[in-house]
Parts: sequence; structure tokens; C-alpha cells
Amino acid sequence: MTAREPSMPLRAWPRCDQTVAWSALSGHAQVHGRDLDLRQLFRDDPHRVQRLSLQAPEVWADLSRAHWDLATQRHLLDLARECGLAEQRDAMLRGELVNRTEGRAVLHTALRAPRGQAPFSDVVHAELDRMLAFVAGVRAQAGGTQPGDIHDIVHIGIGGSDLGPQMVAAALSTWVHPGLRLHFISNVDGQELASVLPALHPDHTLFVVASKTFTTQETLANARAARQWFLDAGGRDVARHFVAVSADPRRAADFGIGTCFAFWDWVGGRFSLWSAIGLPVALALGGDAFRALLTGAHDMDRHFAEAPLEANLPVWLGLLDVWHRNFKGYSSRCVSPYAQGLKRLPAYLQQLVMESNGKSVDADGRVLPYATSDVVWGEPGTNGQHAFFQMLHQGRDVIPVEFILVGRPAYPDADVLSAELKDLLRVQHESLLANALAQAQALMWGKTEAQALREASPTAAPGVPAEVIARHRTFSGNRPSLTMLLDALTPRSLGALVALYEHRTFVSGAIWGINSFDQWGVELGKALCQDLLPRLQSGDTQGLDAATAATIGRLRQGRDGA
Ligand code: F6P
Repeated sequence: MTAREPSMPLRAWPRCDQTVAWSALSGHAQVHGRDLDLRQLFRDDPHRVQRLSLQAPEVWADLSRAHWDLATQRHLLDLARECGLAEQRDAMLRGELVNRTEGRAVLHTALRAPRGQAPFSDVVHAELDRMLAFVAGVRAQAGGTQPGDIHDIVHIGIGGSDLGPQMVAAALSTWVHPGLRLHFISNVDGQELASVLPALHPDHTLFVVASKTFTTQETLANARAARQWFLDAGGRDVARHFVAVSADPRRAADFGIGTCFAFWDWVGGRFSLWSAIGLPVALALGGDAFRALLTGAHDMDRHFAEAPLEANLPVWLGLLDVWHRNFKGYSSRCVSPYAQGLKRLPAYLQQLVMESNGKSVDADGRVLPYATSDVVWGEPGTNGQHAFFQMLHQGRDVIPVEFILVGRPAYPDADVLSAELKDLLRVQHESLLANALAQAQALMWGKTEAQALREASPTAAPGVPAEVIARHRTFSGNRPSLTMLLDALTPRSLGALVALYEHRTFVSGAIWGINSFDQWGVELGKALCQDLLPRLQSGDTQGLDAATAATIGRLRQGRDGA
């Protein structure tokens, strides 16, 4: 199967804000949205959780504490139908050129479909088999003492060629081969690579240079530096210790790397961890674990493709994002995984969501009058409680919080832990979960001034009336959150979770009528940098704007003075 010409014109559906459903939602927001109080909604409907929670493959989600109700959801589902959400989804899955500004299909789903069940299945599985055969060879000697036995894998890439593999490797660190260490180098700041090199030996290091275009300045600079180190350190066989991953193998060969694992232009960078970009994950975890990751994502793909919109978790979440963003006016969301292994998930989601939907024109190039992507940020819990939860509870802005919980913990070498230590760690995991539950409860129920007054001790702050203290200790409550629960963090459950976020991002982008799959916004800075780099080196600020010229001058002054 191959990519297909678009079956739909650029503007195939009414713009979302010109639909009947959008008007209904606007009216709904006026009547129900403004004074919506979660506490009252739960009092009015004892079945609210059952009605607004949903089990998808590997992921259970409770959306009952989001700022919506069943009537809201019905209007949003009407909006999805008026905007042709299902038709847009099916066109993407069929391999139509839905990335219209780049003339490409969008088929990251084909990377994880079983043989014969998606477009391009033959080439996908041929390259996957080839990559995993290479992986098996490296892992068979991993940690060995012979030259060429690999101990360290240094993955060089940035953006979608870094964030996905790094996030997965961190999440599944307990599955990593005991003889292998993974290092991720992305920033053009040489400090990152230089900090890793001293611990490496050229005979036991494999460099993976990952770049879809193989033109990204950061990646090529780090690859050149890594190669220089390798030769300086007495490395003898570049071909054996450097492999590439790219959609442009010719450029990789021109750079001097003979082994290249390929992927294709219909795989967006931020959707590419399922392709050969996932090579470091496969090396670290093994082929079976990598295939399980793909299976989990495929499970979610099938749910997204087949479940009716009314019982489709990516659809629920994407529509809720539209409601929170366009009708409640929430401009950011905090993703707080209560699982340290998911510490890189917020960073991964920043690219997935904000590079996909941080757009201001629709398919026709018309500037949109309504908001699109919110700002995604966050850190794992419980750390966030000691950093920014103050603002989430008592700030002026309402910021929906996404709690991601993992029921069962996983620890490296669990079988060598003593019974006493296992028991302590078990209690810590229960404390982690209890903290997440408490934060969601506090956000929703808050604390009244009367409750705070009853608790205030008269000597709390000498000279400050108890009423004043109480007002500082009042929590408005009625703050929205989502809870997502994985029974355990495994390759399969992680694959499903990430695919859930991919499809959720597609849903809101499709409703907004934007192209979620290009990223023209990153090009201007890259182009300007090409002009500024030599100027920084030469000091020539002729024709530059005053601010840039002044900064260059100050930098050079400081450098000359060093
Ligand atoms: O940030 C811009 C971008 O093009 C991303 O979309 C991409 O993931 C990243 O740079 C890296 O691109 P490449 O994989 O081609 O090096």
C-alpha cells in the first residue's frame, strides 16, 4: 500500500467556531461553565465518576474532576461530528497526504501495525527486522571484554530524534541490559558531550547519530565532535562504532557513516520513536521489549480507530482540551506523573503537543480567531508539590493538572533486594500514590475560610489577626484535574500511553482545523543563526539590530577580557 492523494479539499469541514455545536458550547459555557462547581456536580450525580471515566488499552482515565459535565461532552461530540473528526482520522490512517503543507502522509501508526495491516507494511517490517537483528548482535556481546563489545551507547539527536527514545529509556530503566549504559546527547552546547566522554572507551562505545533530515546543526556538530574524540582516543574502526538513523541515508553516508537504519518522510520527527529512532531503546531493552512497546501503541491505535467517539479515550481527551482551552480559557496544563520513571514525559509532550498544535493559521493559511495549543509543562510528583503546587492550589490562574499513576512499582534487580528493603520501598510507593490522591482531592475540595479559621492557632503569627491568617490558608478548590492510571509501567503500557497522547493531540488539532504535522515555526531561528554565527566569531555587527549588536559586543568584550 502506498500514500494516497487527499480525498478531501483543504477546507473540507466548517471551521470549528462556525459550527452549530460551537455556538451551543458557547451558550453552554455561559450558562454552566462560569459557575460550574465540581463539588456540586458530584453531589448532584453520585455516578459521575462512572459516567466520566473510561478504560482504554492499558490506561484507565478518570475525567470526572475536569471542568465539564455530560451535557458538555455531548456538545463536544456534536462538534467532533460537525468537524469530520472520524473522517479526518480515517483519512490519516489510510495514508492520505493529510500533512498538506509538506505533501506527506502521516503514518506513525504504520510503524507499530502487525505485518500486512497498514500502508508500507513491507518496508516497515523489513527495516524493523534488520534493526532488531543488529540489536541482537550488539546485545549478545554487551559488557564483554573484547574490542567491539559494547558497554556504552551514546545517542546523538535532538527534538523528535531525542525526546522519545530518552523518555522511553528513562521510563523502562529497570529493563535495561545490565551490561549497557545509555547516554543522550542533544544540545549543541559542547558541555553535554564533553561531560560524557571521559567515562567512555572507544573500543566499547557505540555512537548512534539520529536525524531525520541529517542536516540538524546540533546533531552534526555533536557527531563531528564525537568522531574526533573517538579518533583521538585511539579508536580504530569508525564504521563499527558509528551508526546512523535517518530518512536520508545518503546524507548519512556522505557524513561518513556506513550503517544507517532508515525511516520515512511520512513519519513526523515527534512521532518517530516507533521507527529506527527507537534504536537506543531496542539496544537497551532488547527486541522483545521494543516489539511490546509497538504492540501497546497498536492496541491504542485500534481503540482510537474502532471505538465509537462516545467511548473513545483519545477523543474524550482531545475534546476536553478544546473545551478547557477555548471555552474555559485555560492556557496551560500541568502534566505531573507520580512515577519517577516518567520524569521525561512532560518534556516529550511539550514537543508532541506544542510543536504539533502551536499554530495560528488553518489549513487554508487563514489566521485563526481562536486559541489553539495550551502550554504543556510539568514535573514528576511528589517533587512538584515542593515547587509549583502552591500556584496550582492558590494562584489566580486555573491550571488543569494531569496525574499519571502507576499501580505497581518496578525496581532494578528487585530479586536481590532484602525483604526489609522491599517493604520500605513498598510503603514509599503507597505514599507516592496517596500524595497524588491527596493533591487531586485538595485541588477539588479546597478548604473554606471557616475551616481554616477553626484550625488557625492564635500564636501562629504574633500581631496578625486569626482571620487574616485564615484567609491565607483558604483554598478555593474547584480546580480541575485528570487522573490516568497504569497498572504497571511496562513497554506495552508505555506504548499505549504515548499513543494515547499522540491521538489526543491529533483530535484537538483536527477540531481546530490546523496542520498538526508540520513545524514551519522552527525554521526562521535556524536561518538567522546561519548569519549570526560568523558575525559572533568576527565581531561584524554591521546592519544588525541594536539589541543583537549590543549583545554580540558584550559577549566579545567578555571573551577578550577572559
Ligand atoms: O524542532 C524542529 C525539528 O525539525 C523537529 O521537528 C525534529 O524532531 C528536530 O528538529 C530534529 O530534526 P532531525 O531529526 O531532522 O534532526
